[in-house]
Amino acid sequence: MRRVVLPEIGTFEAWRDEARALLGAGVPPEEVLWHRGAAEADLFAEALPPVRGGAVTVPKGFVDLARLVVWHRDPERFARLYGLLWALGHSRGLLEDRGDPRIDRLRRMAKEVSRDRHKMTAFVRFREIGDPAATRRRFAAWFEPSHYILELTAPFFAKRFGDMDWSIFTPDLTAHFDGFEIRFAPPEARPELPDDAAEELWRTYFRNIFNPARLKIGAMQAEMPKKYWRNLPEAPLIPELIAEAQSRAQAMGEAAPSLPPIRAERITERLRAPEAPAPVGDRDALLSGLAGCRRCPLWQNATQPVAGEGPLDAPLMIVGEQPGDQEDLAGRPFVGPAGQLFDTVAARAGLKRDRAYVTNAVKHFKFAPRGKRRLHQSPNSGEIAHCRWWLDMERQLVRPKLIVAMGASAAESLTGDSRRIGTRRGALEHAPDGTPVMVTWHPSYLLRLPEGARSAAEAAFEADLRRAAALVAQGEGAADTKGA
Ligand code: URA
Repeated sequence: MRRVVLPEIGTFEAWRDEARALLGAGVPPEEVLWHRGAAEADLFAEALPPVRGGAVTVPKGFVDLARLVVWHRDPERFARLYGLLWALGHSRGLLEDRGDPRIDRLRRMAKEVSRDRHKMTAFVRFREIGDPAATRRRFAAWFEPSHYILELTAPFFAKRFGDMDWSIFTPDLTAHFDGFEIRFAPPEARPELPDDAAEELWRTYFRNIFNPARLKIGAMQAEMPKKYWRNLPEAPLIPELIAEAQSRAQAMGEAAPSLPPIRAERITERLRAPEAPAPVGDRDALLSGLAGCRRCPLWQNATQPVAGEGPLDAPLMIVGEQPGDQEDLAGRPFVGPAGQLFDTVAARAGLKRDRAYVTNAVKHFKFAPRGKRRLHQSPNSGEIAHCRWWLDMERQLVRPKLIVAMGASAAESLTGDSRRIGTRRGALEHAPDGTPVMVTWHPSYLLRLPEGARSAAEAAFEADLRRAAALVAQGEGAADTKGA
């Protein structure tokens, strides 16, 4: 009997290499005992020197299946996979045989792993453990998956939360991410994680996306099985939300229609007398005013308003459209994928984000709920006009020498001109008070472009940011010379 001990990190690759070698050397499944990690190893099996087999080809469908099944908790998973691989050598079409119980079992195991992975992406809740003022914030989470899925799932979190350092602790393995790579380490005892201020926000968010009119308790429990509740800050809300769902749904029905159609809003907008200019305040006045903003209905569904950030003496102001999903949760502008692209291109263009005031034309996230996702919706002209009050207040506070308007909403808010960006990009326009406004692409637009079209548009965006940085530097140079 041959004993193969697979490592606990890199298990799939190790299993694949061993299985290929064994198959190439003609070692039958009944002669192999598979283990993951020394603890599982069978002391009675012999650890023979590794085999060197000839090259073998394996159907892609099998590799895809194995990529999931190796993370299942069934101790027989490696043997089952190798058994099937062996059998495929004699009957290539076997993988398509839906009636074969070995394949049926492996497919079910793959599904269970996939489902567990999906649950992990939905139910990991990070808590902040580092200094919130540090350039890169640090978070940690504890999660108890049903299968060994951390290595499989960690890349999802690296992509989704690339702008922060994080660790995920599980009873089987730990993952640490530092912005560049994911490092796996042996499991640690469940860490004491601090109560997170963000949890309150998260609960508000959960309350907001919970639609009492669409409550289906069975489906909800299938989606969010009770085993995960222990680590979910929103779980204690569920019984209460279920209990009040019926009366809330009834109240919603009675209150509808709650929003006038967009067309009606535009007409009202045109008839409305021009508003008084935004007062000059300080940043605290801005923040407290924004917190209670009811100028348009967007506050109702957003988690919080997102004010701009950056030095109040910044010579450059960058204006985007509105906070996205991640900005809405974080309470900070441009921290999600569009923000990451902006940061990358700005760095290439020599534009220092920390010397600019970065904000949005609209301060609340506008979205349409689709299941558990919140799909971005562009603000309409009325919403942009209502929110100009806050952008004007920020402009009064910062008094930038140059504003970069990224995308049509920002350009409309700043110049009053709602034409598309394609014909305007790169040009210097002006706000009504004469402040120069450089109009350019919005990074989210670049992210949506197909690969081929993206590089040219991104190069144009970079050129615009480079020019903006140069204009500001020139202005600062001139001011320095005058002062000298
Ligand atoms: N898109 C924006 O326009 N602003 C943000 O803050 C994030 C995404």
